[in-house]
Amino acid sequence: MTFRDLGQANLKGQRVLVRVDFNVPMEGGRISDDTRLRVALPTIRFLSTQGAKVVLIAHFDRPRGKRVAEMSLAPLVAALSTLLDQPVYFADDCIGPAAAKVVRALEDGGVAMLENLRFHAGEEKNDPAFIEALAANGDIYVNDAFSAAHRAHASTEGLARKLPAYPGLSMQRELEALDSALGNPQRPLIGIVGGSKVSTKLDLLKNLVTRLDKLAIGGGMANTFLYAQGHDVGASYCEKDLAETAREIIRLAGRNNCKLFLPLDIVVAERLGPGDAARVRGLGEVDDDERILDAGPETVARLKRAMENSKTLVWNGPLGVFEVPPFDTATVDCARHAADLVEAGKLVAVAGGGDTVAALNHAGVVDRFSFVSTAGGAFLEWMEGKALPGVACLES
Ligand code: 3PG
Repeated sequence: MTFRDLGQANLKGQRVLVRVDFNVPMEGGRISDDTRLRVALPTIRFLSTQGAKVVLIAHFDRPRGKRVAEMSLAPLVAALSTLLDQPVYFADDCIGPAAAKVVRALEDGGVAMLENLRFHAGEEKNDPAFIEALAANGDIYVNDAFSAAHRAHASTEGLARKLPAYPGLSMQRELEALDSALGNPQRPLIGIVGGSKVSTKLDLLKNLVTRLDKLAIGGGMANTFLYAQGHDVGASYCEKDLAETAREIIRLAGRNNCKLFLPLDIVVAERLGPGDAARVRGLGEVDDDERILDAGPETVARLKRAMENSKTLVWNGPLGVFEVPPFDTATVDCARHAADLVEAGKLVAVAGGGDTVAALNHAGVVDRFSFVSTAGGAFLEWMEGKALPGVACLES
Protein backbone atom coordinates (compact mmCIF):
# COMPACT_ATOMS: atom_id res chain seq x y z
CA MET A 1 0.00 0.00 0.00
CA THR A 2 1.19 3.53 -0.64
CA PHE A 3 0.47 6.84 0.98
CA ARG A 4 -1.81 7.57 -1.98
CA ASP A 5 -3.98 4.58 -1.01
CA LEU A 6 -4.27 6.04 2.47
CA GLY A 7 -5.36 9.37 0.98
CA GLN A 8 -8.19 7.57 -0.77
CA ALA A 9 -9.45 5.87 2.39
CA ASN A 10 -12.25 7.53 4.35
CA LEU A 11 -10.39 8.63 7.43
CA LYS A 12 -13.06 10.66 9.18
CA GLY A 13 -13.45 9.44 12.74
CA GLN A 14 -10.92 6.64 12.22
CA ARG A 15 -8.32 6.12 14.94
CA VAL A 16 -4.96 6.11 13.16
CA LEU A 17 -1.96 4.78 15.09
CA VAL A 18 1.02 6.63 13.63
CA ARG A 19 4.51 5.30 14.41
CA VAL A 20 6.85 8.27 14.47
CA ASP A 21 10.53 8.50 15.46
CA PHE A 22 10.77 11.15 18.15
CA ASN A 23 14.12 9.89 19.42
CA VAL A 24 15.41 13.47 19.40
CA PRO A 25 18.63 14.73 21.00
CA MET A 26 17.99 16.39 24.36
CA GLU A 27 20.27 18.61 26.42
CA GLY A 28 19.31 19.47 29.99
CA GLY A 29 15.71 18.36 29.43
CA ARG A 30 15.31 20.50 26.29
CA ILE A 31 15.16 19.36 22.67
CA SER A 32 18.42 20.40 21.01
CA ASP A 33 17.37 19.45 17.47
CA ASP A 34 13.68 19.11 16.55
CA THR A 35 14.23 17.84 12.97
CA ARG A 36 12.54 14.54 13.73
CA LEU A 37 9.43 16.30 15.06
CA ARG A 38 9.29 18.41 11.90
CA VAL A 39 9.71 15.36 9.67
CA ALA A 40 6.46 13.92 11.08
CA LEU A 41 4.37 17.09 10.65
CA PRO A 42 3.09 16.55 7.06
CA THR A 43 1.60 13.14 7.89
CA ILE A 44 0.05 14.34 11.16
CA ARG A 45 -1.44 17.42 9.50
CA PHE A 46 -2.78 15.41 6.58
CA LEU A 47 -4.51 12.87 8.83
CA SER A 48 -5.88 15.56 11.11
CA THR A 49 -7.29 17.56 8.18
CA GLN A 50 -9.01 14.40 6.93
CA GLY A 51 -10.80 14.16 10.30
CA ALA A 52 -8.83 11.18 11.62
CA LYS A 53 -8.08 10.78 15.32
CA VAL A 54 -4.28 10.82 15.26
CA VAL A 55 -2.62 8.64 17.90
CA LEU A 56 1.17 9.01 17.87
CA ILE A 57 3.32 6.15 19.12
CA ALA A 58 7.08 6.40 19.54
CA HIS A 59 10.10 5.25 21.52
CA PHE A 60 12.63 7.38 23.28
CA ASP A 61 16.11 6.13 24.14
CA ARG A 62 16.57 2.59 25.45
CA PRO A 63 14.73 2.05 28.78
CA ARG A 64 14.76 -1.73 28.17
CA GLY A 65 11.21 -2.57 29.21
CA LYS A 66 11.13 -0.43 32.36
CA ARG A 67 9.58 2.92 33.20
CA VAL A 68 12.47 5.43 33.35
CA ALA A 69 11.31 8.95 34.23
CA GLU A 70 14.08 10.67 32.22
CA MET A 71 13.01 8.75 29.12
CA SER A 72 9.41 9.93 29.13
CA LEU A 73 8.01 11.44 25.92
CA ALA A 74 6.05 13.99 27.98
CA PRO A 75 8.65 16.80 27.51
CA LEU A 76 8.08 16.65 23.75
CA VAL A 77 4.35 17.34 23.86
CA ALA A 78 4.54 21.12 24.18
CA ALA A 79 7.09 21.43 21.36
CA LEU A 80 4.97 19.29 19.05
CA SER A 81 1.83 21.20 19.93
CA THR A 82 3.57 24.49 19.06
CA LEU A 83 4.81 23.13 15.73
CA LEU A 84 1.36 21.78 14.85
CA ASP A 85 -0.44 24.80 16.24
CA GLN A 86 -3.03 22.56 17.89
CA PRO A 87 -3.36 20.78 21.24
CA VAL A 88 -1.59 17.45 21.66
CA TYR A 89 -3.03 15.25 24.43
CA PHE A 90 -0.74 12.90 26.33
CA ALA A 91 -1.38 9.47 27.85
CA ASP A 92 1.18 8.31 30.38
CA ASP A 93 1.04 4.75 29.08
CA CYS A 94 0.91 3.46 25.51
CA ILE A 95 -1.52 0.61 26.32
CA GLY A 96 -4.25 -0.12 28.87
CA PRO A 97 -6.78 2.22 30.49
CA ALA A 98 -4.63 5.39 30.42
CA ALA A 99 -4.14 5.17 26.64
CA ALA A 100 -7.75 4.12 25.99
CA LYS A 101 -9.09 7.07 27.98
CA VAL A 102 -7.11 9.69 26.02
CA VAL A 103 -7.89 8.10 22.65
CA ARG A 104 -11.60 7.81 23.48
CA ALA A 105 -11.74 11.52 24.32
CA LEU A 106 -10.17 12.60 20.98
CA GLU A 107 -12.36 14.54 18.61
CA ASP A 108 -12.13 14.05 14.86
CA GLY A 109 -8.89 15.74 13.77
CA GLY A 110 -7.48 15.60 17.31
CA VAL A 111 -3.93 14.51 18.09
CA ALA A 112 -2.70 12.42 21.03
CA MET A 113 0.74 11.13 21.94
CA LEU A 114 1.20 7.95 23.96
CA GLU A 115 4.05 7.35 26.41
CA ASN A 116 7.32 5.65 25.39
CA LEU A 117 6.63 2.25 23.80
CA ARG A 118 9.87 0.84 25.21
CA PHE A 119 8.61 1.14 28.79
CA HIS A 120 7.07 -2.25 27.94
CA ALA A 121 9.35 -5.20 27.16
CA GLY A 122 6.76 -6.43 24.62
CA GLU A 123 7.70 -3.63 22.22
CA GLU A 124 11.23 -4.82 21.45
CA LYS A 125 10.17 -8.48 21.70
CA ASN A 126 7.48 -7.87 19.07
CA ASP A 127 5.20 -9.69 21.50
CA PRO A 128 1.72 -10.67 20.16
CA ALA A 129 -0.07 -9.68 23.40
CA PHE A 130 1.57 -6.25 23.32
CA ILE A 131 0.71 -5.82 19.63
CA GLU A 132 -2.90 -6.69 20.51
CA ALA A 133 -2.91 -4.13 23.33
CA LEU A 134 -1.53 -1.39 21.03
CA ALA A 135 -3.94 -2.28 18.23
CA ALA A 136 -6.88 -1.83 20.64
CA ASN A 137 -6.46 1.94 20.17
CA GLY A 138 -6.35 2.00 16.38
CA ASP A 139 -8.36 1.17 13.27
CA ILE A 140 -5.49 1.93 10.87
CA TYR A 141 -1.69 1.82 11.23
CA VAL A 142 0.66 4.28 9.56
CA ASN A 143 4.43 3.97 9.82
CA ASP A 144 6.23 7.27 9.31
CA ALA A 145 9.45 6.24 11.07
CA PHE A 146 11.96 5.11 8.45
CA SER A 147 14.74 5.71 10.97
CA ALA A 148 13.32 2.96 13.21
CA ALA A 149 12.48 0.59 10.34
CA HIS A 150 15.58 -1.56 10.92
CA ARG A 151 13.93 -2.78 14.14
CA ALA A 152 11.41 -5.64 14.04
CA HIS A 153 9.48 -4.32 17.02
CA ALA A 154 5.77 -4.42 17.83
CA SER A 155 5.23 -0.84 16.69
CA THR A 156 7.44 -1.04 13.59
CA GLU A 157 6.57 -4.51 12.30
CA GLY A 158 3.97 -6.33 14.42
CA LEU A 159 1.20 -3.76 14.02
CA ALA A 160 1.44 -3.94 10.23
CA ARG A 161 0.27 -7.55 10.46
CA LYS A 162 -2.63 -6.65 12.72
CA LEU A 163 -4.16 -3.50 11.18
CA PRO A 164 -4.50 -2.10 7.64
CA ALA A 165 -1.00 -0.65 7.20
CA TYR A 166 0.32 2.29 5.19
CA PRO A 167 3.57 4.25 4.94
CA GLY A 168 3.39 7.86 6.10
CA LEU A 169 4.37 10.75 3.84
CA SER A 170 7.93 11.00 5.18
CA MET A 171 8.46 7.27 5.01
CA GLN A 172 7.24 7.23 1.43
CA ARG A 173 9.40 10.21 0.48
CA GLU A 174 12.43 8.61 2.08
CA LEU A 175 11.88 5.28 0.29
CA GLU A 176 11.51 7.04 -3.04
CA ALA A 177 14.72 9.02 -2.46
CA LEU A 178 16.63 5.92 -1.45
CA ASP A 179 15.33 4.06 -4.46
CA SER A 180 16.61 6.83 -6.72
CA ALA A 181 20.05 6.44 -5.09
CA LEU A 182 20.70 2.71 -4.85
CA GLY A 183 17.56 0.90 -6.00
CA ASN A 184 17.08 2.31 -9.44
CA PRO A 185 19.73 4.99 -9.89
CA GLN A 186 20.82 6.96 -12.91
CA ARG A 187 24.39 5.96 -13.66
CA PRO A 188 27.29 6.51 -13.25
CA LEU A 189 26.66 6.07 -9.54
CA ILE A 190 29.30 7.26 -7.09
CA GLY A 191 29.50 6.71 -3.34
CA ILE A 192 31.42 8.60 -0.69
CA VAL A 193 31.96 6.70 2.54
CA GLY A 194 33.84 8.31 5.38
CA GLY A 195 33.94 8.14 9.15
CA SER A 196 36.55 6.66 11.40
CA LYS A 197 35.99 2.92 11.56
CA VAL A 198 36.19 0.31 8.83
CA SER A 199 35.03 -2.23 11.42
CA THR A 200 31.52 -0.72 11.63
CA LYS A 201 31.16 -0.42 7.87
CA LEU A 202 32.43 -3.72 6.54
CA ASP A 203 29.05 -4.96 5.31
CA LEU A 204 28.33 -1.56 3.86
CA LEU A 205 31.59 -1.37 1.90
CA LYS A 206 31.24 -4.94 0.66
CA ASN A 207 27.72 -4.24 -0.59
CA LEU A 208 28.57 -0.89 -2.14
CA VAL A 209 31.49 -2.14 -4.23
CA THR A 210 29.10 -4.59 -5.91
CA ARG A 211 26.56 -1.87 -6.73
CA LEU A 212 28.43 1.37 -7.39
CA ASP A 213 30.47 2.45 -10.39
CA LYS A 214 32.84 4.46 -8.17
CA LEU A 215 33.48 4.55 -4.44
CA ALA A 216 35.53 7.16 -2.59
CA ILE A 217 36.77 6.17 0.84
CA GLY A 218 37.70 8.95 3.24
CA GLY A 219 37.91 9.83 6.91
CA GLY A 220 39.79 7.73 9.45
CA MET A 221 38.82 4.54 7.63
CA ALA A 222 40.90 5.58 4.62
CA ASN A 223 43.98 5.29 6.89
CA THR A 224 43.35 1.56 7.26
CA PHE A 225 43.25 1.24 3.47
CA LEU A 226 46.44 3.30 3.06
CA TYR A 227 48.18 1.18 5.70
CA ALA A 228 46.96 -1.97 3.91
CA GLN A 229 48.64 -0.68 0.77
CA GLY A 230 51.93 -0.27 2.59
CA HIS A 231 51.85 3.47 3.36
CA ASP A 232 53.09 4.80 6.67
CA VAL A 233 50.24 6.39 8.65
CA GLY A 234 52.32 7.74 11.59
CA ALA A 235 50.24 8.17 14.75
CA SER A 236 46.92 8.19 12.83
CA TYR A 237 43.85 6.30 13.91
CA CYS A 238 44.11 3.03 11.98
CA GLU A 239 42.62 -0.45 12.40
CA LYS A 240 45.79 -2.33 11.51
CA ASP A 241 44.20 -5.72 12.21
CA LEU A 242 41.78 -5.02 9.34
CA ALA A 243 44.49 -4.56 6.72
CA GLU A 244 43.68 -7.89 5.05
CA THR A 245 39.96 -7.06 5.07
CA ALA A 246 40.74 -3.74 3.40
CA ARG A 247 42.74 -5.56 0.72
CA GLU A 248 39.82 -7.96 0.25
CA ILE A 249 37.47 -4.99 -0.30
CA ILE A 250 39.93 -3.53 -2.85
CA ARG A 251 39.95 -6.88 -4.70
CA LEU A 252 36.15 -7.16 -4.53
CA ALA A 253 35.84 -3.67 -6.01
CA GLY A 254 38.17 -4.70 -8.86
CA ARG A 255 36.12 -7.84 -9.59
CA ASN A 256 32.93 -5.77 -9.70
CA ASN A 257 34.30 -2.96 -11.86
CA CYS A 258 33.86 -0.47 -9.06
CA LYS A 259 36.55 2.18 -9.30
CA LEU A 260 37.95 2.89 -5.84
CA PHE A 261 39.09 6.38 -4.93
CA LEU A 262 41.51 6.33 -2.02
CA PRO A 263 43.30 9.53 -0.93
CA LEU A 264 46.00 10.83 -3.28
CA ASP A 265 47.29 13.26 -0.68
CA ILE A 266 46.58 13.93 2.97
CA VAL A 267 46.43 16.68 5.58
CA VAL A 268 48.42 15.94 8.75
CA ALA A 269 49.00 17.61 12.11
CA GLU A 270 50.60 16.71 15.41
CA ARG A 271 47.69 17.92 17.45
CA LEU A 272 43.98 18.18 16.81
CA GLY A 273 42.96 21.66 17.86
CA PRO A 274 41.02 24.45 16.17
CA GLY A 275 43.34 26.24 13.76
CA ASP A 276 46.27 23.90 14.51
CA ALA A 277 48.99 23.90 11.86
CA ALA A 278 47.86 21.56 9.10
CA ARG A 279 50.32 20.33 6.48
CA VAL A 280 49.53 18.83 3.09
CA ARG A 281 51.61 15.73 2.45
CA GLY A 282 51.97 12.98 -0.10
CA LEU A 283 50.96 9.43 0.83
CA GLY A 284 53.27 7.85 3.37
CA GLU A 285 55.00 11.14 4.21
CA VAL A 286 53.78 11.14 7.79
CA ASP A 287 56.10 11.65 10.74
CA ASP A 288 55.78 9.27 13.67
CA ASP A 289 54.04 11.88 15.83
CA GLU A 290 51.69 13.16 13.10
CA ARG A 291 48.13 12.15 12.41
CA ILE A 292 46.16 12.18 9.16
CA LEU A 293 43.12 14.37 9.83
CA ASP A 294 41.73 15.25 6.40
CA ALA A 295 42.02 14.49 2.70
CA GLY A 296 44.36 16.72 0.69
CA PRO A 297 43.56 19.15 -2.16
CA GLU A 298 44.48 16.75 -4.99
CA THR A 299 42.14 14.14 -3.53
CA VAL A 300 39.37 16.71 -3.29
CA ALA A 301 39.93 17.92 -6.86
CA ARG A 302 39.76 14.35 -8.19
CA LEU A 303 36.62 13.64 -6.17
CA LYS A 304 34.96 16.76 -7.52
CA ARG A 305 35.73 15.67 -11.07
CA ALA A 306 34.37 12.20 -10.31
CA MET A 307 31.14 13.76 -9.06
CA GLU A 308 30.90 15.90 -12.19
CA ASN A 309 31.17 12.71 -14.24
CA SER A 310 28.43 10.96 -12.26
CA LYS A 311 24.63 11.21 -12.28
CA THR A 312 23.96 9.98 -8.75
CA LEU A 313 25.80 10.33 -5.44
CA VAL A 314 25.18 8.46 -2.21
CA TRP A 315 27.12 9.81 0.77
CA ASN A 316 27.74 8.50 4.26
CA GLY A 317 30.33 9.85 6.67
CA PRO A 318 32.73 12.81 6.68
CA LEU A 319 36.07 12.89 4.83
CA GLY A 320 38.02 14.37 7.74
CA VAL A 321 37.65 15.62 11.29
CA PHE A 322 35.00 18.16 10.19
CA GLU A 323 34.23 19.27 13.75
CA VAL A 324 37.66 20.93 14.03
CA PRO A 325 38.58 23.44 11.28
CA PRO A 326 40.72 23.46 9.21
CA PHE A 327 40.24 19.67 9.08
CA ASP A 328 36.72 20.23 7.71
CA THR A 329 38.05 21.44 4.35
CA ALA A 330 37.67 18.27 2.26
CA THR A 331 34.20 17.51 3.62
CA VAL A 332 32.95 21.08 3.16
CA ASP A 333 34.46 21.52 -0.34
CA CYS A 334 33.09 18.24 -1.65
CA ALA A 335 29.67 18.74 -0.03
CA ARG A 336 29.31 22.22 -1.53
CA HIS A 337 30.41 21.00 -4.94
CA ALA A 338 27.83 18.20 -4.79
CA ALA A 339 25.15 20.73 -3.80
CA ASP A 340 26.12 23.00 -6.73
CA LEU A 341 25.80 20.05 -9.12
CA VAL A 342 22.38 19.18 -7.67
CA GLU A 343 21.22 22.75 -8.17
CA ALA A 344 22.51 22.71 -11.73
CA GLY A 345 20.35 19.61 -12.34
CA LYS A 346 23.43 17.48 -13.01
CA LEU A 347 23.43 15.20 -9.96
CA VAL A 348 21.02 13.43 -7.63
CA ALA A 349 22.68 13.50 -4.19
CA VAL A 350 21.35 11.43 -1.30
CA ALA A 351 23.06 11.34 2.09
CA GLY A 352 22.46 10.02 5.58
CA GLY A 353 23.57 7.92 8.51
CA GLY A 354 25.56 8.67 11.65
CA ASP A 355 27.22 12.06 11.74
CA THR A 356 26.66 12.72 8.03
CA VAL A 357 23.80 15.14 8.72
CA ALA A 358 25.95 17.07 11.19
CA ALA A 359 28.77 17.24 8.62
CA LEU A 360 26.46 18.45 5.85
CA ASN A 361 24.85 20.91 8.24
CA HIS A 362 28.30 22.23 9.02
CA ALA A 363 28.85 22.68 5.27
CA GLY A 364 25.45 24.42 5.02
CA VAL A 365 24.14 22.10 2.30
CA VAL A 366 21.43 19.98 3.95
CA ASP A 367 18.68 21.83 2.08
CA ARG A 368 20.63 21.83 -1.17
CA PHE A 369 21.04 18.04 -1.46
CA SER A 370 18.32 16.02 -3.21
CA PHE A 371 17.62 14.20 0.06
CA VAL A 372 19.28 13.97 3.46
CA SER A 373 18.03 11.20 5.71
CA THR A 374 17.77 11.75 9.46
CA ALA A 375 18.10 8.00 9.95
CA GLY A 376 21.22 6.55 11.56
CA GLY A 377 21.24 2.76 11.87
CA ALA A 378 18.38 2.30 9.40
CA PHE A 379 20.24 4.23 6.69
CA LEU A 380 23.37 2.15 7.25
CA GLU A 381 21.46 -1.13 7.10
CA TRP A 382 19.81 0.05 3.89
CA MET A 383 23.28 0.85 2.48
CA GLU A 384 24.37 -2.62 3.54
CA GLY A 385 21.63 -3.99 1.29
CA LYS A 386 19.64 -5.49 4.16
CA ALA A 387 15.85 -5.72 4.07
CA LEU A 388 14.38 -3.44 6.72
CA PRO A 389 11.59 -5.21 8.66
CA GLY A 390 9.62 -1.98 9.08
CA VAL A 391 9.60 -1.46 5.31
CA ALA A 392 9.18 -5.09 4.23
CA CYS A 393 5.99 -5.44 6.29
CA LEU A 394 4.43 -2.47 4.48
CA GLU A 395 5.27 -3.98 1.11
CA SER A 396 3.89 -7.46 1.76
C1 3PG B 1 17.54 6.15 15.95
O1 3PG B 1 17.65 7.11 16.72
O2 3PG B 1 18.41 5.88 15.10
C2 3PG B 1 16.28 5.36 15.96
O3 3PG B 1 15.30 6.01 16.70
C3 3PG B 1 16.51 3.95 16.45
O4 3PG B 1 16.88 3.96 17.79
P1 3PG B 1 17.50 2.62 18.45
O5 3PG B 1 18.86 2.46 17.85
O6 3PG B 1 17.50 2.84 19.91
O7 3PG B 1 16.59 1.47 18.05
